[in-house]
Amino acid sequence: MNVENTKALLTGASGGIGRAIANRLAQGGALLTLVGRNQETLQDLNRSLPGKHRVLVADITTQTGRAAVLEHARAQETAMLINAAGVMDFQFVEQQSSACIEQMITTNMLAPVLLCHSLIPVLRQHEQAAIVNIGSIYGSIGHPGFSAYCASKFGLRGFTEALQRELADSPIRVLYLAPRATLTDLNTRAVDDLNKALGNSVDRPEQVAEELMNVLARSRRQRFMGWPENLFVRLNGLFPGLVHNALVRKLAIIRHHAQT
Ligand SMILES: NC(=O)c1ccc[n+]([C@@H]2O[C@H](COP(=O)([O-])OP(=O)(O)OC[C@H]3O[C@@H](n4cnc5c(N)ncnc54)[C@H](OP(=O)(O)O)[C@@H]3O)[C@@H](O)[C@H]2O)c1
Repeated sequence: MNVENTKALLTGASGGIGRAIANRLAQGGALLTLVGRNQETLQDLNRSLPGKHRVLVADITTQTGRAAVLEHARAQETAMLINAAGVMDFQFVEQQSSACIEQMITTNMLAPVLLCHSLIPVLRQHEQAAIVNIGSIYGSIGHPGFSAYCASKFGLRGFTEALQRELADSPIRVLYLAPRATLTDLNTRAVDDLNKALGNSVDRPEQVAEELMNVLARSRRQRFMGWPENLFVRLNGLFPGLVHNALVRKLAIIRHHAQT
C-alpha cells in the first residue's frame, strides 16, 4: 500500500518503535494521527516530523480513550490503523501482580482487538486501507519470564491471522509485523542484561520502521524479524520440543535476571 497522502492513525507513537515509524511514514508523505497518553511528548514529536500531522491524547485501555480514537478516525476518514502501543513486564508469572498481568493483556491484546473492531467500518470506506498490528517474536515462542506478555502477543497474532482471512475479500489489508528485541525503553535494564547473557541480537527502532514500510509496500501478511529468531519461530511450530529444551537449559540464567 502506498503511504503518500494516506491518513494513518498510530498508537504507541511516543514510544521507541512508534517514533521511528512516525518518522518513516511522515517521510513517505503519510498524514498521521499520533496517539499516546502524554500530550507534550506527542506535540514534541509532531514538531519534529516533516508535514502536517495531528495529536490525539488517549489511553487505549479505557472505553473513553478508545471512543476518542473512533471519533477522531471517523472525522479524519482514517485509512490506516497501526497498533504499536504496548507494555511489557519481565518476571516469572508467580512473582507478577495480577494488575500487571491485566495491564499487559489489556494494552497489548484487548485494546488493539477492540480498536480494529470499531475502526473496520471507517477503513472500509476507502478503496485501499490497512491495519498493521505490531506483535513480537514472543507472539510465536513462549519464553520463560515473559508468560503474560507472550499470552498477549500470541493472542494478537491469532486475532490478526483470523481477521486477515475474514477481510480477505475486503479493501482492508491486515498485516502483522513481529520485531525481535529492539533498543527502546520497553526493555528494562534486566531485559537488556538478559539479552546480552543469552547472546540475543538487538535491533534499532529504525530497522523496525523500515521493515514496516516493506510490509506495507508488499502487503506481507506476516513478517518475523531477525535471524535466528525467524528460524526459531518456524522450529517452534514444527518441533516445539527442540525449542523447549533449548530454553529450559537457559532457565537458571533467565530466572537470575528476572529477579534482579
Ligand atoms: N522493544 C522491543 O524489544 C520490542 C520487541 C518486539 C515487539 N515490541 C512491540 O513493539 C511495540 C512498541 O514497543 P516499544 O519498544 O516502542 O515500546 P515503548 O518505547 O515502551 O513505547 C510504548 C508505547 O506504548 C504506548 N502506550 C502504552 N500504554 C498505553 C496506553 N494505555 N494507552 C495509549 N498508549 C499506550 C506508550 O505511550 P505513552 O506511555 O506515552 O502513553 C508508548 O508510546 C509494542 O507493541 C511492543 O510490544 C517491542
